[in-house]
Amino acid sequence: MRGLFVTGTGTGVGKTVVAAVVARGLAAAGRTVAVFKPAVTGLEDGGEPDQALLRRAAGSEQSDGEIAPYRYGPPVSPHLAAELAGEEIEPARLLEAAAAAAAAGVVVCEGVGGLMVPLSPGYLVRDLAVDLGLPVAIAAAPGLGAINHTLLTLEAARAAGLDVAAVVLTPWPERPSRIEVSNRETIAALGEVEVAVLPQLDLAQPSTWPTEWRFSRG
Ligand SMILES: Nc1ncnc2c1ncn2[C@@H]1O[C@H](COP(=O)(O)OP(=O)(O)O)[C@@H](O)[C@H]1O
Ligand SMILES: [Mg+2]
Repeated sequence: MRGLFVTGTGTGVGKTVVAAVVARGLAAAGRTVAVFKPAVTGLEDGGEPDQALLRRAAGSEQSDGEIAPYRYGPPVSPHLAAELAGEEIEPARLLEAAAAAAAAGVVVCEGVGGLMVPLSPGYLVRDLAVDLGLPVAIAAAPGLGAINHTLLTLEAARAAGLDVAAVVLTPWPERPSRIEVSNRETIAALGEVEVAVLPQLDLAQPSTWPTEWRFSRG
């Protein structure tokens, strides 16, 4: 499988935005892009669901179910959302759906929460990343807390043998503060990882997003 697995230091840290920009960049370069997200939760909160933003960014014609085989209303961990719906997320079904997406093109997969979030009681997001064999990008907010959250995520990724392509700090301010600049340098040095940054984007208009935006192994 070719592509990228976008995880993050937690929830609401920019995973969808990073995955969308990567997908759009690949599509703009002429690649056929399939997007994938093992489970979407919080649909009852309204707003554009992750699978819709990812599809729009990739210029994909995949259905909701092809992008995200499991979709739930409550804004809770996927294993709990599934339990509340009276089912369990099946790793085999996820791998089949991801393989079907991969057959259509390069895959940009967005995780759920962070690496240690359970998809089912015995199967973490990290296990899925390992099973898919994709390199990983880690989305993180650039401000206070970024060093600890990012280095913990790097350790968890590498302990499982995942190949970390880059950390992406998002949204990166036009005039970064002393803390933000220092965080970027410190994460690169202590994490021995490339740290990319993504400016504030107008999410409604992918045509205005940077298409040349890549990290070196992107
Ligand atoms: N570069 C960016 N430009 C615009 N908005 C951003 C950017 N990075 C993060 N955000 C905002 O941060 C919030 C969380 O981002 P999102 O990608 O949905 O996080 P996650 O997928 O990790 O839950 C969203 O409201 C999103 O609009
Ligand atoms: Mg998301």
